[in-house]
Amino acid sequence: MDYNPLAPEVMANPYPYYAELRNKAPVAWLEPLQCWAVSRYVDVDFALRNPQLFPSSVFTAQALGDLNPVPETPWILDMNPPDHTRLRKLVNKAFTPRLIRALEPRVREITQELVAALTRHPETDLVASFSGPLPTIVIAEMLGVERARLHDFKRWSDDIVLATSRPRDEAVRARVRASGAEFRAYMEEMIARRRREPAEDLITALVRAEEERDMLSATEILALVVLLLLAGNETTTNLIGNAVCSLLDHPAELAKVRADPALVPSMIEEVLRYESPVQVIFRQTACEVELEGGTIPAGATVFLLLGSANRDERKFPEPDRFDVTRNPQDHLAFGYGIHLCLGAPLARLEGRVALEALLFDCPPFACTRPYLPRIASLIVRGVQTLPLRFTTPAVAAAMQ
Ligand code: HEM
Repeated sequence: MDYNPLAPEVMANPYPYYAELRNKAPVAWLEPLQCWAVSRYVDVDFALRNPQLFPSSVFTAQALGDLNPVPETPWILDMNPPDHTRLRKLVNKAFTPRLIRALEPRVREITQELVAALTRHPETDLVASFSGPLPTIVIAEMLGVERARLHDFKRWSDDIVLATSRPRDEAVRARVRASGAEFRAYMEEMIARRRREPAEDLITALVRAEEERDMLSATEILALVVLLLLAGNETTTNLIGNAVCSLLDHPAELAKVRADPALVPSMIEEVLRYESPVQVIFRQTACEVELEGGTIPAGATVFLLLGSANRDERKFPEPDRFDVTRNPQDHLAFGYGIHLCLGAPLARLEGRVALEALLFDCPPFACTRPYLPRIASLIVRGVQTLPLRFTTPAVAAAMQ
């Protein structure tokens, strides 16, 4: 069938194309990308559970090309056992669920500060003024970046993310390179300082993480921090944006959540399923592999369509219905298996706190544009801008 994930109409709304793939060609050769697409839940799930058949590759590290500020160390995302097992064990020691739970009050404070600034104006772009800054500020504080350097950190982080779009303009490339170098120098100094003077932050936890006398090197920590910025910021921004868009598109579901705040966590899981911020991840085949949907030859590049698996009617009844009470616990939005998203508890926390603040601490809001430009990417799903208008108290009173 004719499926080109790079076509603008497919990026705008990939779901009908996914449905056709699942039904007609569940394991499909994609000529434009020279790779195989796997679209059914059962097959994506199998691939994630069998990393020996579907190892990871160097795709993601290549995303930054020569703009990678830490090119000498591979990313955990691209590693396979036993190297991945070693690194992940160490990183897990630092990134514990307890640490994430302890963050909640601070995440709430940061969210409240952003919300207070947001609601001072009748109109706002939610991406620029809320869902974009929130994850960057949270990760900066987690790492232990000083307040005075927050602005620099945000700039470095934005430029490192910009590197993934492979800018061609030499001036932009030079700026991205300079930001990468500044970021690296700052983090290297911080890692060295935390070894001498431990503090209550993630860098100290990473410096201290020890497993059978094995420890993380400074470059391993640096590469991990770059990945945290790339894997954690835009994804969480899009989770919040996709939640707001899905709720505004489904007023009855929005009303249910407004009436019952306890539905927020379930709503977040449904957004992750319904509009997965990461639509596709990549793997290779170690040998010829037979899936339910078809056979893939050895040494092939494989696209695991998480966004399609999460809309598979064989797994989720009425998958195209956005249902805030569904609470899907087994969606694949965070992947599965050995590479299961390290930041999932943090993303869930930020998503919940952000949506609680938007729904219960802000005046009611509406989107001011009928059509929102989407991020032009086959990997991430989200909107570029999300212009909202808050209903003034007078209008809100008149509506009651
Ligand atoms: C809604 C937000 C997020 C989504 C949808 C998401 C999605 C994913 C997915 C699908 C994977 C698996 C990739 C694969 O198997 O190839 C992954 C891995 C990862 N994520 Fe997330 N992520 C989110 C937020 C975050 C956050 C907030 C952080 C950290 C601050 C983070 C850090 C990571 C890391 C380090 C990995 C690699 C783990 C490994 O290879 O062992 N992510 N994420």
